[in-house]
This record gives sequence, C-alpha cells and structure tokens, in this order.
Amino acid sequence: MLGWSVLAPAVADVYAAEEAAVEAVAGQAVYIAHCAPCHGDNGEGFRRVYPPLADSRFFTTDLNRLPCVIRYGLRGEIEVGGVVFDQQMPGNSRLTNEDMLVLIGYLQQRWGEVEQLVDVEEWLRTCR
Ligand code: HEC
Repeated sequence: MLGWSVLAPAVADVYAAEEAAVEAVAGQAVYIAHCAPCHGDNGEGFRRVYPPLADSRFFTTDLNRLPCVIRYGLRGEIEVGGVVFDQQMPGNSRLTNEDMLVLIGYLQQRWGEVEQLVDVEEWLRTCR
C-alpha cells in the first residue's frame, strides 16, 4: 500500500498542473478581450497599423518593460520583423496586476520564453 509520503507529491503535481491550465485559460481570455481586437487572435497584427506579436522582444529580452507597455501604452517608431511602425497603442488601466500576470504568462507561453520570472508590481515601478 502506498503511504501519503508517496502520494502527496503526485497529488500536488496534479493541482499544480490544473492551476497552470486554469491560468492559461484566464490569460487567453484577457488576451482575446484586450489585445486581440488590434493584434489579432493569433497575434498576426494588421498591415502597418498594428504590429505582430510573434517574436516580440517585449516577451523575451525586454520582458520587464511589458507591464509598462500594457498599462501605459506605446508610441513612436518601433521595428518589428523588419517593418517599421510609428503608431500609438493606448494604455490599459482596467487590467489588474493579477490580470496582467496571467496575461503575460500566456504571452510568454505562446510567443516568448517561459523561464523568465514576472514581477508585475515591481516592474510597474520602473515605468517612466
Ligand atoms: C487599440 C489597439 C491596440 C490594443 C487594444 C493593444 N495594442 Fe499593442 N500595439 C498597438 C499599436 C498601434 C502598437 C505599435 C505602437 C508603435 O508604433 O509605437 C502596439 C505595440 C505593441 C507591442 C510592441 C510591438 C511588438 O510587436 O513587439 C506589444 C508587445 C503590444 N503592443 C502588446 C499588446 C498587448 C499585450 C495588448 C493587450 C493588453 C495590446 N498590445 C493591446 C495597438 C494596440
């Protein structure tokens, strides 16, 4: 017979996996509601108006700037995939830090690196 000491970690794993799945669904819902209207359901972007999100440096090397971009928006010239964009992304102050956390987790999983840790509250303090 298996003792609890053997079972417990397995049960914990199941909970962790379920929690990750719940967060992924929540993150996708935030994306669809708040980002997809411009960037597209699959992050494909739109012409020279909305940049695509795949391979965005904000999901990898500049990940710590992402909470600022989401909350305060982005303007000015940027180059994405060899195409120059000079548009304005409005900020979104309706998203809570928790919304942002699950959203960023979703973006990392889909287009970035999952290894990097996200500390939304701390990073928001660095916004200009
Ligand atoms: C109203 C349209 C609109 C919405 C909604 C929007 N964006 Fe943007 N986004 C833009 C525009 C326009 C730019 C380009 C800004 C520029 O030219 O400087 C941009 C740029 C970006 C960039 C940098 C470009 C790149 O591909 O690396 C990221 C990352 C980004 N948006 C993420 C998001 C996320 C995440 C959301 C949802 C919380 C979101 N955006 C919602 C319009 C939007």
